Amino acid sequence: MSVPRDLALSGPHPLRGRLRVPGDKGMSHRALLFAAMADGRSRIVGLAGGDDVFRTRRALTQIGVDSTIAGSAITVDGRGVGSFTEPDGVVDCGNSGTTIRLLSGLLAGRPFLSVLTGDESLVRRPMRRVVDPLRAMGAHVDGRAEGTLPPLVVRGGSLSGTAHALVVASAQVKTALVLAGLQATGTTEITEPAPSRDHTERMLAALGAPLTRVNERAVRVSAGAPEAFEFAVPGDPSSAAFWVVAATITPGSELVVEDVALNPSRIAFVEVLARMGASIELATTGERLGEPVGELRVVAAPLRGTTVEGVEIPWVIDEIPALSVAAAFADGITEFRDAGELRVKESDRIASVSDLLTRLGVGVESSADHLVVRGGRPRVAEFDSHGDHRIAMAGAIAANALEGASLIHRWRAVTSSYPEFTQDLATVTGRAGL
Ligand code: S3P
Repeated sequence: MSVPRDLALSGPHPLRGRLRVPGDKGMSHRALLFAAMADGRSRIVGLAGGDDVFRTRRALTQIGVDSTIAGSAITVDGRGVGSFTEPDGVVDCGNSGTTIRLLSGLLAGRPFLSVLTGDESLVRRPMRRVVDPLRAMGAHVDGRAEGTLPPLVVRGGSLSGTAHALVVASAQVKTALVLAGLQATGTTEITEPAPSRDHTERMLAALGAPLTRVNERAVRVSAGAPEAFEFAVPGDPSSAAFWVVAATITPGSELVVEDVALNPSRIAFVEVLARMGASIELATTGERLGEPVGELRVVAAPLRGTTVEGVEIPWVIDEIPALSVAAAFADGITEFRDAGELRVKESDRIASVSDLLTRLGVGVESSADHLVVRGGRPRVAEFDSHGDHRIAMAGAIAANALEGASLIHRWRAVTSSYPEFTQDLATVTGRAGL
């Protein structure tokens, strides 16, 4: 799909009709990895098509796991972790933090050498959070800047089950340690400071892997593997969040996002928007691999400011760019507190969101872990994605709601998670194309 380098957008254009967003990115990475670890053929339909998930699939090819695409389905021939082979080149994880962190846990138990790197954003993202606990299990993992930054070098081998108390609530770290724990002797227990998203727990338990939840912040795993499976990946709620905010802030909108994942650890943004006055109905229609699925129905509504803080933050961490745009269009002040993790995402999202909102003429203040948005009257602007897919999409939904023309530089960043975004925006706003 061709995606323009920069995107010119004018508005306002209400959003109407029904839409299905691409498959959930986090579940897509996990589905590929679990299928590779299983013994047998798995079939995954609706895998996220962006570059991040492609990186995980290519990494699996590099370690000898075959997968074939036929239409919207991908078939993975898993032969267990014992079949993985040493990659003969560097594994390039691109922009994908999930790929590098999950692979480091998976490969820590394999008796060969892997070198994992990524693009200019990924090589600046913190890896100590995964390197230190893997070392505690006996893994040989190192990286640039004393093991804190990629490239990472993993010399895999035997691992011992360990009790980990994580310092950050991170589903990527938790999952890396679960993947290592499935290959370790004894029991591995991981406790988080606050609950992070729980796809790994739900999916692995549904696939019969030896994983139990101790409580909402702790999970226990012992040696074993998931079973081969069939899975239709539900739509990504983090992608849906952009449409939900876009329809809320653009008068005249009425939109349904269908077949979307409704895992509670992913849809806390709906609760935040409801507090702000949004009109969103949520209907669960089924469950797949332990993951609730359904639809979100949204009608435009005026918004007021709110505060998002504490344990709510890990559950909305990827939605803060979209929620910041809602805050920009709301009456009053919105605060995001305890949100220092935003600094180490695909861009420094406290800085990149501040830049976007400032250019839109909205008052913003920030500190190390805190963002304050003085909602009011945004106006069209020219801005930059900072190479971050979610900043690009946040800019697009603001531009779509505003009178006049805006320009988004480095629009192509959307390809990390949502290459179809430009086309979907044209469709739901009734434009012939963009
Ligand atoms: C993800 C977990 C989150 C999220 C990221 C995807 C996952 O990161 O921000 O986009 O798939 O596990 P952390 O777990 O590092 O907070």
